[in-house]
Order: sequence, then structure tokens, then C-alpha cells
Amino acid sequence: MIDTGSMPMAEFVREVRARCGATLDPVEMGRFLSGTRIEPVSLDAFVRFARGRYTRHLVHKDRDVELLVLCWARGSRAPIHGHEGEYCWARVERGRLSFASYREASRAPLRLDPLGGAIDGGTGHVDGPDDIHAVANRAELGEDAVSVHVYCRPYDECDIYDVEQGTVRRVRLMYDSIPTTS
Ligand SMILES: [Fe+2]
Repeated sequence: MIDTGSMPMAEFVREVRARCGATLDPVEMGRFLSGTRIEPVSLDAFVRFARGRYTRHLVHKDRDVELLVLCWARGSRAPIHGHEGEYCWARVERGRLSFASYREASRAPLRLDPLGGAIDGGTGHVDGPDDIHAVANRAELGEDAVSVHVYCRPYDECDIYDVEQGTVRRVRLMYDSIPTTS
């Protein structure tokens, strides 16, 4: 792991953008994310929790990349979802999150194969790039959690998988906050 230290959010955005052009190298991006911290004070500006669910806070979006801060209240979860075939990384900034990855074996009837077991990731854990996964701040993990997400390229809708019902539905992705200057 290369430790490039801690940086303000604005610099983190610049560094991610520089890696998300036409020549995106996912291995390099993973390395960068593993070795970089966001200064807590500049992360704080995006941290707002809502009881029982996770919240999505837009940090930056352009044609090539979207950065979000997600705030996971205890017991909140993102259902199994896809990423439109785009690269998506999540890094745990605070607390712990559980990540479970799947592969779509068939859609009709719907069948998802788990890819290994769920992984509990503590601060600094980088998840991705993932195709289909579920994320949870399981109540027994005991604390709120915060993660930063990088999407190269951005998308506005994604598939949500309901394995029990055997259905897949499209959802439009919403923000709980957007920056006043972006
Ligand atoms: Fe995801």
C-alpha cells in the first residue's frame, strides 16, 4: 500500500478526476484509494445521518466521474444493486460496513450467485470495483459509518435485485444533499 497521506476533499476530488479520464486504470485507482485519507474536517461538511437509512451526499459530478459521501446510520443497508457496468469503488472512512458481492447467473428466473462471503470493512477498507453488491451497516457493528464512493462513469439509474420476489426493478438515484458550489 502506498501511503499518500491525508488531503482535503477538494484535493481528493482533483486526484480522483485525474485518474478517471480516457485512460482509467482500475488497479492504480484502487491503489490510490487504499493509500489516501480525507482530512476529517473536510469530510465533516458532508456527514449527515438519518435514522434507519443511509443518506447520499454529492461531492462532485462531471461527465467522467461522480464522488459521493454516504452516511450509514446503525442498521441501515443498501439492497443488492448493480452499477450499470461502470467502475464503482467504496472506501470506509468511519465505522465499519459489510459488503456482499454477487454475480447474476440468470435473470429469468432471477438467480444471483454469492461471490465469497460478506466482508466486514473497517476504516480504510476499499471495496470494488464491484458489479453487483449489497452494503450494510449491521446494527451489531455498533456505530454509525461513513464511506466515500467513486463512480467512473456516473449513472442516474440502477437495478435493484429482490431475490425473494425474483424481481429486478430500476430506481432513479437521489441525493440527500448537493454542494452549493459544484
Ligand atoms: Fe454499490
